[in-house]
Amino acid sequence: MTPADEPWWKTAVLYQIYPRSFADSDADGVGDIPGIIDHLDYLAWLGVDGIWLSPVTVSPNADWGYDVSDFCAIAPEFGTMDDFDRLVGEAGNRGIRVLMDIVPNHTSEEHPWFVDSRSSRTSDHRDWYVWADGKEDGALPNNWVSSFGGPGWTLDETTGQYYFHNHLQEQPDLNWWNEDVRATFDDIFRFWSDRGVAGFRIDVANVIIKDAELRDNPPATEDDDFETQMFGQRSVYNANRPEVHEVIRRWRRLADDYDEPRLLIGETPVPVDKLAEFYGNGSDELGLAFNFNFISAPFRAPEMRAIVEETEAALPPGAWPAWTGSNHDMFRFPTRWAEDDPAKVRLALLMLLSLRGTPVLYEGDEIGMANVTLTQEDLRDPLGVRFYPYYEGRDAGRTPMQWSDGAGGGFTDADRPWLPLGDLAAVNVQAQRDDPGSLLTLCRDLIGFRRSHPAFSAGESASLLTPENAWAWTRGDRHVVALNISSEELVVSTPAGTVRICTDRGRDLEFVPGDLKLAPFEGLILEHP
Ligand code: NOJ
Repeated sequence: MTPADEPWWKTAVLYQIYPRSFADSDADGVGDIPGIIDHLDYLAWLGVDGIWLSPVTVSPNADWGYDVSDFCAIAPEFGTMDDFDRLVGEAGNRGIRVLMDIVPNHTSEEHPWFVDSRSSRTSDHRDWYVWADGKEDGALPNNWVSSFGGPGWTLDETTGQYYFHNHLQEQPDLNWWNEDVRATFDDIFRFWSDRGVAGFRIDVANVIIKDAELRDNPPATEDDDFETQMFGQRSVYNANRPEVHEVIRRWRRLADDYDEPRLLIGETPVPVDKLAEFYGNGSDELGLAFNFNFISAPFRAPEMRAIVEETEAALPPGAWPAWTGSNHDMFRFPTRWAEDDPAKVRLALLMLLSLRGTPVLYEGDEIGMANVTLTQEDLRDPLGVRFYPYYEGRDAGRTPMQWSDGAGGGFTDADRPWLPLGDLAAVNVQAQRDDPGSLLTLCRDLIGFRRSHPAFSAGESASLLTPENAWAWTRGDRHVVALNISSEELVVSTPAGTVRICTDRGRDLEFVPGDLKLAPFEGLILEHP
């Protein structure tokens, strides 16, 4: 296939916007849709092809938008449906597509469906959620725990049954065995797709179906990963059911019904072999699946390389990986991978934008925004509020976009944004925008290079032999990407060629006769004849 035949998102760079923290147009301390519209020119200048918005639908915000109480309306703090339509139109005028976040696993407890469901055992929506009786001895229906801590079951006093929630008790899980639930989500997909939305990021795509018999999860063993051991059980029955694939295939059929098929990106925090299954036969399930094994890997060549190679080997024919370093749950890669060391941040960004696959940047990645240290009073994430000081929650990676070093960081005119601002003097868009040596310029140049070299962005890739702490791969027939993820100088054997973009911009256009010397934490793209 030539790149022209490929779906738009294969050669795209996607960009996640966390709307609450992107740009505040009305000085209430909270970002909003008009604020996003105001910055579309910036996103077009940067070169992104699509933006994924974390939820902008109505929510009481127990989990900041991931507890939806109306799937087809815009939350007033973010604007109106007219604002949303304007965003899709204005983004489209700049060649930028808009992706929604959809949360099919659960709703808010305030959603009218749940209000009705809990009103009586015979209500119309009773079966839309996962209800069960307690055991005769008064014990919970089974041993399932919530991934947000504590039991997964909450007793509803009125009807005397328990409802299940994989997250907060304010987020009751929907019952995806119910055909009306499935049909209603078809309508939700169409509602947004018909408004011009180019696709969806599907929240906890691996979780939505629960075991029909509500069987107990098996206990964790010493061989399990840290998280499984912490929860004391393997999530075999409350999530990760094989039947989920049937639902995803249904969505894919809906998505493919459009002249420009809608993109489905799954939040799929599962091991690599399971991740591959979410691509189905390569064209009948997800288009892209987030790879949490990669996000969570240490920034070292052997580990990173192993995960990428394992992923590539596991994917079905035609499937295309997605690579991301940060998001609103997993914190910021400049801190997590790069320990806020500018050379490592540059190297990690070059890696993300050069692997075979679609890179998904998180707002602020392009300027190297770091995790922000917060006090207990600052915390807004329900997990931080609940578990501090054992766990501070996810707010450190959710602080507002740093547009400038002025008051409010260019994010807000309010006296106080909803979360504190990071170190504006150290990192902001305005200071980096016209600086040829900045991370932002590097990021923009890398995106521009992808765009002007479809064979680079869409081309195949193969690993090259390197010293242990280096990592190099081909892109298409004429490019090699080489990284030195160590503090020692290393030599990588490459074909002779010209450096197109190096993390040390002083090396751009250097001719490399063969053995490529890489300084500590240096990386580059080499073009050869
Ligand atoms: C994943 C979302 O990214 C996260 O922010 C949220 O808390 C959970 N799913 C529950 O919806």
